[in-house]
Amino acid sequence: MKSFGLLKTAGLNAPSYVSRSCVECGCTKGRRIREVFALPTTKDSILDGFWDQHYRSFSEDEPSPFCKDVLGEALGASDVLVELGCGNGRDGAWIAQRCSHYIGLDNSASAIEASERRFRRLALPPSTFQLAVSDFSAFDFSMAPKGNLIVYSRFSLHSDTEQAEDALLRRLAEVVDRPLTVFIEVRTIYDELFGSGQQVGRNAFVTDHYRRFVDPSELRAKLERNFRIDFFKVSRGFAPYQQEDPQVLRVQFGNRVPQ
Ligand SMILES: C[S@@+](CC[C@H](N)C(=O)[O-])C[C@H]1O[C@@H](n2cnc3c(N)ncnc32)[C@H](O)[C@@H]1O
Repeated sequence: MKSFGLLKTAGLNAPSYVSRSCVECGCTKGRRIREVFALPTTKDSILDGFWDQHYRSFSEDEPSPFCKDVLGEALGASDVLVELGCGNGRDGAWIAQRCSHYIGLDNSASAIEASERRFRRLALPPSTFQLAVSDFSAFDFSMAPKGNLIVYSRFSLHSDTEQAEDALLRRLAEVVDRPLTVFIEVRTIYDELFGSGQQVGRNAFVTDHYRRFVDPSELRAKLERNFRIDFFKVSRGFAPYQQEDPQVLRVQFGNRVPQ
């Protein structure tokens, strides 16, 4: 496995695990995405470009219901939490005040900059959090500080390819030396937006940005291979936003290490 270069981190002891290169074969990120979509665009423009623009002006401050109501119920003060696709840190800031160490990862530099601004306002001790421009599908979870590990993803799994999802699941399956619990909220193929825009892959469409709608039964089958599923439900009412109330999947799963 090739070693990946650090892009940018905030917080103390900036780690050296972040990556923007392909995790499957070590090729460049751009080459991977051309293979996936057979499109002349690069991963950066089709998947990430939108978010860089979006987070220059997106001002949502409130933590999501998934964060406060679901994760909040389970989160312990001594837990270590890694957030996948943390966006502007609206959930991350809430989480970081309630666990022992928070790591927020996002591919978008402007998202991480917005998170940094939010964390600065909180004035948390720098040793208690890290924010990194990085690809969550390449994250090596053994780099997170020791302790009960929680991995949290809200609306980020459908923002990347199935290859990224598979790479992430392989990484999560490597966590065998401590208890791991994963919380995911993600759009599904039952979403009204499914089919809108240009199709760029299986269940994947681009409107002003990329979405890959998850097939719940396929994800469940993948999870059952390596994990214990604690909660798995598709429903409306989980993530209402403006005029939308999509059919969203919430899943909680973990490794089989005694909790
Ligand atoms: C819909 S936004 C959700 C942001 C945040 N979780 C929230 O709920 O407000 C999806 C985020 O996932 C990020 N993302 C997508 N694929 C990623 C990847 N492979 N690694 C890191 N971040 C990624 C995007 O840059 C974007 O910030």
